Amino acid sequence: MVGNRAVVYKGQGRVAVEDISYPDLILRDGPGVNPLNVGRKCEHGVILKVVTTNICGSDQHMVRGRTTAPEGLVLGHEITGEVIEVGRDVEFIKKGDLVSVPFNIACGRCRSCKEQNTHICENVNPDRPGSAYGYVDMGGWVGGQSEYVMVPYADFQLLKFPDKDKAMEKILDLTMLSDIFPTGYHGAVSAGVKPGSTVYVAGAGPVGLAAAHSAQLLGASVVVVGDLNAERLAQARSFGCETVNLSEHDRLGEQIEHILGVPEVDSAIDCVGFEAHGHGKNHTESPATVLNSIMEVTRAGGQLGIPGLYVTGDPGAIDADAKQGTLKVRFGLGWAKAHTFVTGQTPVMKYHRDLMMSILNGRAQIAKAVNATLISLDEAPDAYAAFDSGVARKFVIDPHGSVR
Ligand SMILES: NC(=O)c1ccc[n+]([C@@H]2O[C@H](COP(=O)([O-])OP(=O)(O)OC[C@H]3O[C@@H](n4cnc5c(N)ncnc54)[C@H](O)[C@@H]3O)[C@@H](O)[C@H]2O)c1
Ligand SMILES: [Zn+2]
Ligand SMILES: [Zn+2]
Repeated sequence: MVGNRAVVYKGQGRVAVEDISYPDLILRDGPGVNPLNVGRKCEHGVILKVVTTNICGSDQHMVRGRTTAPEGLVLGHEITGEVIEVGRDVEFIKKGDLVSVPFNIACGRCRSCKEQNTHICENVNPDRPGSAYGYVDMGGWVGGQSEYVMVPYADFQLLKFPDKDKAMEKILDLTMLSDIFPTGYHGAVSAGVKPGSTVYVAGAGPVGLAAAHSAQLLGASVVVVGDLNAERLAQARSFGCETVNLSEHDRLGEQIEHILGVPEVDSAIDCVGFEAHGHGKNHTESPATVLNSIMEVTRAGGQLGIPGLYVTGDPGAIDADAKQGTLKVRFGLGWAKAHTFVTGQTPVMKYHRDLMMSILNGRAQIAKAVNATLISLDEAPDAYAAFDSGVARKFVIDPHGSVR
């Protein structure tokens, strides 16, 4: 019998590679599985041999103990793989197809899905609209930082790469289609970026770098990236961004004025989320900092793309309000400036095919922008620790050595 090994959350600050069961076309009970999802039949699904699966800042929120993720949860929502088994009700996806899996799980049959809002599918998470693999409070779909994984609603969701050999040559780019490239791009689109725009991106983690590269693809004239991490800012400069080190400068507007001649930008994107720090030398956690600073530096009438994650419950938050996701956001400022706020998970399927084409035809260089770094499954625990320490890398797990 074939086994299956996976990255498992073991409690605050710890992950381990463990044996888990080989998937079949049913969602079985396990850590984090919503009771109403137990026994759910997935004849519309496939089993994938995972080719690449990336570690994400969203995983880190759980691993840092900043969510209610249960011990034993199998992690991983950024999945690319080869189809090795198809369910009875799968009509078009075939064995042998090499596919990108959108990190959201979407049925293709509900009102949200029909309106292309696959990030808030109504049928996959009994608690609320929206779901993902290997994620707390998302229905309990088993994560894909593993050798094998089950993906439901295969015909609707999967993006098949047209040529397997060509795809394998660019797999470090294509692996970003499951989440961060569409997420960065969605951030830029929802911030209204267009040719000539000046753009501020908060955060130089992989999502921030993906948003910055996306803004360039959309024709931005200047992209300014802010972070407190010098190594990550150097990574942003490596592909033509301007940067602001917010641990050295606490006034973002002044720094933007040094670069642009005016203290404001046309568009801004929050790629940080609820674990944001304040600015300045002795910065500490201050969860509303990014939301407030993007309102401050974005011109009146501008749009704010907010892919950075905000939660409804955070056991590790700095105060009682923040523990429930209530933050000190200066909403009056955004109202006065007639800002548009776009929040939530990314509807990956709106973007992944177009971004695949720009990768395959050499327009997009996303692996280079985020410094994609290939590792084995056994190296995942060390990579989690390195990513947590703030290295300027996006770790890509290669569980079968199929890329190496
Ligand atoms: N909406 C979605 O669908 C979606 C998808 C993927 C990731 N995300 C979220 O996007 C966020 C970023 O992901 P990531 O993988 O890049 O995470 P990350 O943790 O690697 O990067 C976050 C960066 O923000 C920086 N930062 C902290 N405070 C800051 C501040 N005040 N100003 C500027 N930078 C600051 C940190 O130093 C860090 O480099 C996370 O919250 C993640 O959960 C959302
Ligand atoms: Zn992710
Ligand atoms: Zn749906």
